[in-house]
Amino acid sequence: MNQLSRDTKLPEGQAEDIRRFKRRYWTQAGIGKEYQYVAYQADPITRSKNVIEIRLVLANILGPHVLDAGAGTGRFAWPLERAGHKVVSLDISREMLEQGTALARKRSLTFRAVRGDIERLPFEDGVFDSVVSITVLRHFPNWREILREYGRVVRPGGRILFDMGSGEQRAYLEKAGALTDANTNGPIDPLSFDIGVTRRELVECAKDLGLRLRNDSPYDFFNSNPLVERMCGIPKEELKVRLIGILNKTGAVHLYELITRRFLSVLSPVLCPSRFIVLENRPTSIERDEFPANCETPSLESREWLDLVLRQVSGADFDEVCAEVDLLRNDPEAEALYRFCETELFPKIPVEAFTWRTD
Ligand SMILES: C[S@@+](CC[C@H](N)C(=O)[O-])C[C@H]1O[C@@H](n2cnc3c(N)ncnc32)[C@H](O)[C@@H]1O
Repeated sequence: MNQLSRDTKLPEGQAEDIRRFKRRYWTQAGIGKEYQYVAYQADPITRSKNVIEIRLVLANILGPHVLDAGAGTGRFAWPLERAGHKVVSLDISREMLEQGTALARKRSLTFRAVRGDIERLPFEDGVFDSVVSITVLRHFPNWREILREYGRVVRPGGRILFDMGSGEQRAYLEKAGALTDANTNGPIDPLSFDIGVTRRELVECAKDLGLRLRNDSPYDFFNSNPLVERMCGIPKEELKVRLIGILNKTGAVHLYELITRRFLSVLSPVLCPSRFIVLENRPTSIERDEFPANCETPSLESREWLDLVLRQVSGADFDEVCAEVDLLRNDPEAEALYRFCETELFPKIPVEAFTWRTD
């Protein structure tokens, strides 16, 4: 279960306990092999998440010199190397790096493994074009300080790509009374500790660190999404079994990827449990703060307006996006997903969740 923690400042002792626990967890014997199975060969929901994350990384990366911070067994090193980048894979866990190295050997791929701590990177300032750090920062109470360290090793104009939980979704669920006391006030479980931040918090944090928010895309809609689980009235386990059946086809994964990229990324961050974030290390010559266009959350009041929002945010591409969806929905492999969304899922999500403002 995900701990629905907000980005509250924890007492230093507790924050230190979480960091120590995580370090022990990721260095235990056999963890590399286990992670390899869970992250790569697991159920279709996780596989779809994998496809979407790799697409997001490839679409936003600046190369050629990339640091994968908390690289694990190389989930992002492979596709980035194949796309022509030079990736340094840093991780604190020898277990994870050894597994990555063994896999690389099998696939005749390069894996430049460096054992090190993301809190004190063993690199000079500005040596990377991008830092990518997926499923890492969201587990660290001191994520802001680690971001500062990432910003140090990225050149001016370079990028930092990472993910966090959605603070808007957590605030929405709390307001709707859909969180239990254990989610909000219970003792913190270091294993499932997972931070949610809002877009506003991100923009402020970026500003403090001399970085700029360049992209903020909600995603992971079908993966343990408490909004879907709690608002749609489908018991959690039943929903999971159905989704596993529905997403077990390539056509369905394509449609899911398209929905994430063209629709969820521009709707309210309340809809998704996670967000994919791109920060830019501002070149020193840029003084003025420019907010990226997709940082405006639509603020409309009824479902009929959604069509208008989508048209507005997709701009001239709207008809093209609809044509793309039409093409995919007619794929027999994607039909079940389309029907599920249209008839069972979206009608049950409250209108305000689509249109919740971030401020
Ligand atoms: C959930 S895994 C993610 C791995 C990879 N980024 C992926 O998405 O497949 C988290 C990784 O962070 C690493 N990690 C944890 N604490 C770290 C630290 N202080 N410095 C470097 N790596 C760390 C762990 O060893 C583990 O490999």
